[in-house]
Amino acid sequence: MSYERSVSAPSHELSPETVWHIQMPQIRFGRDATDELAFQLRDLGVEEGAHGLIITDETLSDIGHVGRVETHLEDAEFAVDVYDESEREPSIADIENCLAFVRDEKGEEGYDFYVGLGGGSCMDTAKTTRAVIANGGGPLDYIAEPTGEGKALDESGPPLVLMPTTAGTGAEISPVSILSVEEKEIKEGISSNHIRADAAVLDPTLTTTLPPELTAKTAMDALGHAIEGYTTHEYDSLLRPTDPRERPVYAGRTPLTEMFSEKAIDLLSGNVRKAVHNGDDLEARENMLQGALFGAIAGLTAGASLCHAMAYPVGNKYHTYHGETIAVLTPASTLGYNAASDPERFASLARRFGVDTTGMSTNEAADALKGEYIRLQRDLNVLPSGLAELAGITEDDVDWLAKQTVDTQARLLRCNPRPVTEEDVHAIFTDALYNWEP
Ligand SMILES: [Fe+2]
Repeated sequence: MSYERSVSAPSHELSPETVWHIQMPQIRFGRDATDELAFQLRDLGVEEGAHGLIITDETLSDIGHVGRVETHLEDAEFAVDVYDESEREPSIADIENCLAFVRDEKGEEGYDFYVGLGGGSCMDTAKTTRAVIANGGGPLDYIAEPTGEGKALDESGPPLVLMPTTAGTGAEISPVSILSVEEKEIKEGISSNHIRADAAVLDPTLTTTLPPELTAKTAMDALGHAIEGYTTHEYDSLLRPTDPRERPVYAGRTPLTEMFSEKAIDLLSGNVRKAVHNGDDLEARENMLQGALFGAIAGLTAGASLCHAMAYPVGNKYHTYHGETIAVLTPASTLGYNAASDPERFASLARRFGVDTTGMSTNEAADALKGEYIRLQRDLNVLPSGLAELAGITEDDVDWLAKQTVDTQARLLRCNPRPVTEEDVHAIFTDALYNWEP
């Protein structure tokens, strides 16, 4: 079974995988790490007098974070322009706007460096812009066929540093940028090690301005990465590619990703209530940002699975936030359906979530995890009770959602620890309509 599930089918001999690999940007973390951004850029080879672009959004300009970064860079003798028109869940047209800005200001060569400041959408806009300027053409050239041309990115371009202002998406370290293709009602990713940033600067003081609702939504995305990464298949259940370059980006869990998942789950589940209900609690914010980073290192290396696969069609059709979609789908998918793949592992997760499993069988403990997760969601007061409350989704919509998931998300479904059919996905969507009585 595990052999059939194998990889994204690069050429391989029939021998199991024996090697894992991790690639990360440089990571600089801590209160006021923003003050070391110029140092970080110089460390990446950016010289005095270089001209850079901050890619961000209007809200972050209005609350002063952009000004803080801009002043810091100008004090360090860099010239800086600001593009603050990044849109939430960027479309191809949104990326083209940013590309046009760069080409108008600096021609085909573009800027000497880029800083992406904001949530996942700003960071993905920055990642895609830098990569397309460096490789030429437009974003559709690099999106997989049949939607795009499926060309490979050959180079990364000048230095890119990402600074998250939410604790959730993991875009600051991931090798993927997610774009929506509006005409087709789908989301597509450009996935390449060349799209990854060179460095991530994570400063919890930039996250205290995030309102409770967004704090909760992004936290549930981070928790999803940690749990999906912890419960996905093992790296050595795949076949070993003949050429190491063809090892998939999402390659299964390893001892290293498991360690990061465990720590991420502790930090996120232990601090999310405090961060949502008291946003100024800087220690809680710091723990959340660290938890989100660790969750991303785990989940976005090992690979997100069924829940993320189901979330993309929902987000694209109903324009829901990614994190709240993950929150609503996790109980039925990751914690419900997938628990059968390894009840022992889910039982151990229940203990990590603080469930007293004394006297419970393994299966009872695994079930109790789902209950505890839902209790956490309800404690946050700002998350919807299911798909119905999220976007008015009804049983009539489930056929389309299930078909869309199976048709467009093969890359993630292949990583799922339990094989899944369209009927299964249908049942899971139905289960997720109501996680509790609203
Ligand atoms: Fe996610």
